[in-house]
Amino acid sequence: MKNIILRLFFFLCKFLTQIKGASIGKGCIINKLPYIRKCRGSQIILGDYVTMTSNKRHNPLLQHRVELRTLTPQAVIEMKPHSGISGVSLVCCARITIGEYTIVGPGTLIYDSEGHDYSPETGWSSRKLRTGRPITIGSKCFIGSHCIILSGVNIGDNCVIAAGTVVTQDIPAGHKAYGNPAIYEPLPKILGGVGRRKKTVPSSSTIN
Ligand SMILES: CC(C)(COP(=O)(O)OP(=O)(O)OC[C@H]1O[C@@H](n2cnc3c(N)ncnc32)[C@H](O)[C@@H]1OP(=O)(O)O)[C@@H](O)C(=O)NCCC(=O)NCCS
Repeated sequence: MKNIILRLFFFLCKFLTQIKGASIGKGCIINKLPYIRKCRGSQIILGDYVTMTSNKRHNPLLQHRVELRTLTPQAVIEMKPHSGISGVSLVCCARITIGEYTIVGPGTLIYDSEGHDYSPETGWSSRKLRTGRPITIGSKCFIGSHCIILSGVNIGDNCVIAAGTVVTQDIPAGHKAYGNPAIYEPLPKILGGVGRRKKTVPSSSTIN
């Protein structure tokens, strides 16, 4: 009986997510309704077997539900097959891609625009909110909780991004990144990494 109720619940969440404008592949699990706000013409694509959790009962670290927002007609949020997110915010102006088998922890914020723009003459404006640089996260990555992934960043396959990391620059495949701004070092070969130990700190231009 409990199983049937759970199936019905997942079915309802999937149905409502589709009504909100997302395209959903087969075998997806939408655990509690995400917050979705989709700009007309934009796309939200959830591949086969994607998991999306907004349910505190299933992830005790969760602080809010999954949020999917597209702000321009050309925006595309794509979650490739078998990827999973819980309590993550994706705010997209250009393109955000999450690779196959990649999982992203709660509280992580991925946004591909600069948000607000500042100039001494005109002050703050929302102009940059509508222009984005695509973010691509490779396959089989583990993104810990409360990370921030900034616009234009590419994260290669098989990367681990530690909890609370602010990713301001590209992370090559097979690396572990941590800190603010993120520094990275190779993961051991056994974890799919490239296997040498050498830390890479961001260039001074990235720090400023
Ligand atoms: C990255 C992580 C997986 C540990 O990896 P690890 O290979 O065991 O890392 P280590 O403990 O060997 O640490 C390696 C270095 O990274 C640093 N580090 C690890 N996690 C870090 C973090 N979250 N923030 C800043 N630095 C971190 C360590 O201090 C260490 O630095 P040092 O070499 O200068 O001493 C773990 O720290 C982490 O962040 N897990 C995420 C958990 C999570 O968010 N889960 C979501 C559940 S839904």
